[in-house]
Amino acid sequence: MMKQEVGKAAADLVKSNSIVGLGTGSTTAYAIEYIGKRLQSGNLKNIVGIPTSFQAEVLSKQYGIPLTTLDAINHIDIAIDGADEVDMQKNLIKGGGAAHTREKVVDYLANQFIVVVDAGKLVTKLGSVFAVPVEVIPMALTPVINSIKQLGGKPELRMGLRKAGPVVTDQGNLVIDAKFNDIPNPANLEKVLNNIPGVLENGIFVNCADIILIGEVQDGKSIVR
Ligand code: A5P
Repeated sequence: MMKQEVGKAAADLVKSNSIVGLGTGSTTAYAIEYIGKRLQSGNLKNIVGIPTSFQAEVLSKQYGIPLTTLDAINHIDIAIDGADEVDMQKNLIKGGGAAHTREKVVDYLANQFIVVVDAGKLVTKLGSVFAVPVEVIPMALTPVINSIKQLGGKPELRMGLRKAGPVVTDQGNLVIDAKFNDIPNPANLEKVLNNIPGVLENGIFVNCADIILIGEVQDGKSIVR
């Protein structure tokens, strides 16, 4: 219910005649659904979406949102996306759905980036709950795992839930979840991880979120703040 309310609130921020980055995950799925409903009702006109994953693409098609690619446009007006952790400086950990690489491309390009979360995602220190997802090309798996250990992280290859074997990203790569006990400087760790040969992208997002919409329950009712 909270996710639904926050997704709807984000969808209401989309204006007609705009290019919209469409994020990944269960919260953004509601935003995509409501954007589609606004289009169908005529309340929203002439928008085009850039999906951040196969999941976002399939949902957007299901809800009738026209899509394009980054080759066909020169800006993104607004992007809506979820997160796994948000700290007080609006730094994020993303990639619980293994889509952080495309999400980072789209979310960073957007003039306005709206993050949709429930209050349980808020943390005082980034990384205190969630591991940092690191997308890695398959042949570099072992050296990247070793490098993450040298940085003080605990790396774990992400395995599929209803699949034998590892999770494979939309790009055909693997995901290492790297748990760090302390991330004193998220911007630095983001750079250091991306500098390991074989790493495509990691899920630390610094200085890019504009608005955090937070869903929570107050007096038994879902609200968005
Ligand atoms: C996808 O890779 C992620 O970055 C999601 O945006 C994030 O995991 C949030 O997902 P939920 O809204 O499902 O919690």
